[in-house]
Amino acid sequence: MATHHHLPPLLLLVLLLAPSPAAAQESHISAVIGSSGLDFAKDVLIGEAARSLTPLRLPGAEKSMRVPFLGGVRAAVSNITLFHLDVGDDSALRPGDSGLVVVASGVSANISMAWSYSYDSWYFGPLQISDSGTASILVQGMEVGITMEIKNYNGSLALNVSQCGCYVKDLEISLDGGASWFYQGLINAFEDDIRAAVEKAVPENIIGSTSKLDSFLQGLPRSVSLDNISALNMTFMNDPQYGNSSIEFDINGLFTSAVAKTSNLQKHPQLSLSCGGASNMLVLSLDETVFNSALDVYYKAGSMHWVVDKVSDQSLLNTAGWKFIIPRLYWSYPNDDMVLNISMASSPIMWITSENIGATINADMIIDVLHGTETVPVACISVIVSASGVVEASGNKVYGRVELNDFSLSLKWTNIGNFHMSLIQGVIRVFLNTVCMPYLNSQLGHGFILPVVHGFTLKDVYVITSTQQLTLCSDIAFANASSLASLPVL
Ligand SMILES: *[C@@H]1O[C@H](CO)[C@@H](O)[C@H](O)[C@H]1NC(C)=O
Ligand SMILES: *[C@@H]1O[C@H](CO)[C@@H](O)[C@H](O)[C@H]1NC(C)=O
Ligand SMILES: *[C@@H]1O[C@H](CO)[C@@H](O)[C@H](O)[C@H]1NC(C)=O
Ligand SMILES: *[C@@H]1O[C@H](CO)[C@@H](O)[C@H](O)[C@H]1NC(C)=O
Ligand SMILES: *[C@@H]1O[C@H](CO)[C@@H](O)[C@H](O)[C@H]1NC(C)=O
Ligand SMILES: *[C@@H]1O[C@H](CO)[C@@H](O)[C@H](O)[C@H]1NC(C)=O
Ligand SMILES: *[C@@H]1O[C@H](CO)[C@@H](O)[C@H](O)[C@H]1NC(C)=O
Ligand SMILES: *[C@@H]1O[C@H](CO)[C@@H](O)[C@H](O)[C@H]1NC(C)=O
Ligand SMILES: *[C@@H]1O[C@H](CO)[C@@H](O)[C@H](O)[C@H]1NC(C)=O
Repeated sequence: MATHHHLPPLLLLVLLLAPSPAAAQESHISAVIGSSGLDFAKDVLIGEAARSLTPLRLPGAEKSMRVPFLGGVRAAVSNITLFHLDVGDDSALRPGDSGLVVVASGVSANISMAWSYSYDSWYFGPLQISDSGTASILVQGMEVGITMEIKNYNGSLALNVSQCGCYVKDLEISLDGGASWFYQGLINAFEDDIRAAVEKAVPENIIGSTSKLDSFLQGLPRSVSLDNISALNMTFMNDPQYGNSSIEFDINGLFTSAVAKTSNLQKHPQLSLSCGGASNMLVLSLDETVFNSALDVYYKAGSMHWVVDKVSDQSLLNTAGWKFIIPRLYWSYPNDDMVLNISMASSPIMWITSENIGATINADMIIDVLHGTETVPVACISVIVSASGVVEASGNKVYGRVELNDFSLSLKWTNIGNFHMSLIQGVIRVFLNTVCMPYLNSQLGHGFILPVVHGFTLKDVYVITSTQQLTLCSDIAFANASSLASLPVL
């Protein structure tokens, strides 16, 4: 049988990504489904299709025949139900010139039906003779082919079946209960009708279910909220691109409310499965712009600030600890506790190279003295930090780990007189290394969950960085077939 009902899985795979909005025709996330991914999609699709196509009710038929000695005989078959499909291993899904082609050969099917016949006998006087029974039909060597086009329609994916055919090679009717050769002959006369009914109904039902799939695809959300601050723009850009054994989907991929940056991005290596030669089911590439748009959204939402009132060496947060570094601070507010009010002066910038990831963070650190019940801001130091690190993946999550490379300080304003930055350099370095970086790493360590469609999980994810791009290579497991049934398409 064919695949269709759930052509969707293919598309579901696409949802594994977390995309977002961008500038016209520019995509920042691309997802390439490679040959093992297509195989996987095919197996899921065909399995789901075979399940959802059955039971399939076929139209009955009636015939009048002339039989020697008996004269006119009326025979009928009814309640014809295709209740089991066995697709076997002989199936393929491949990108073709005009779309995706799925071919399943050697499919067998079991059909049940009821039969009946009657004739008027004059031998014993006018008398109607009739009988009825059931029969099972075994269809073998059935072949189903379907060509689907997936196109970009106004930023969504639209799926259209351009061709769908079914061919039945062998059909064998066995009457249940060992009925006679005579009945068998009558019923065999319906072979062509049943064959034609199967060859008509199977494609019709496949097309019917793909139209549901099409509505499902077109109804996919244009943006996926990560939290109450940011959402990814899931708008599909361009038509899918078909390779010899892969398909690439391009997605806008920027975070909503981010300023679309149209820097001269590297063009994605089209359809290149650059996962170190390994054949992964899914290759997801994210431009660094995706991360920067996310940072920008959180920055603009005002959610990047941090008040530090506890550090491992608490004496750093008392003016006494600064007695010899900034004497005037101590003399103005002796032995008062302090808090550091840190906020971003601009959106952090992240970049990706083939070796690592890096970030520049431009923060303002306001020193607040807690004097009695008052919080008195006494100085503001601009801290520009450069950090670098690595990205790793595990399960459905991507983690980061960074360390301090370098930093520079400048005094923005002060109410306690000027003091030289070189005096506080050492203290700030300790603070960055023992407080800020561990904090940042604990945040990054929570991981970013890759949105995965229910029922699918990513397996053996690994991360590769290249110029301006982060690539996730992953296999996919289809954990739970029953959860697919909860998709609207089904
Ligand atoms: C999402 O991306 C599309 C295509 O680039 C764009 O037209 C649309 O405005 C974006 N949506 C939002 C909410 O930014
Ligand atoms: C039609 O066939 C099914 C299964 O083969 C059977 O359960 C059902 O009773 C039949 N219906 C009629 C009206 O004969
Ligand atoms: C289908 O028919 C074949 C041959 O009659 C039989 O061996 C098989 O058990 C049937 N399958 C089902 C699910 O009834
Ligand atoms: C295209 O998509 C946009 C955004 O979802 C929608 O507002 C608009 O009505 C769509 N246009 C057509 C022709 O479907
Ligand atoms: C789908 O294909 C049919 C026949 O090829 C065509 O008439 C129809 O317009 C297509 N629909 C879309 C949405 O492309
Ligand atoms: C967003 O959610 C967080 C917690 O989930 C909450 O503290 C915050 O107030 C929310 N912000 C808005 C703007 O709703
Ligand atoms: C695709 O297949 C054709 C013919 O088999 C071959 O010439 C071409 O190089 C292949 N392209 C890729 C990207 O593998
Ligand atoms: C931190 O500083 C910002 C201005 O940079 C100010 O709006 C905010 O109220 C301060 N928060 C605390 C707890 O001092
Ligand atoms: C599959 O999903 C259904 C519904 O989401 C859930 O009830 C069931 O426990 C899941 N089964 C497994 C094996 O995860």
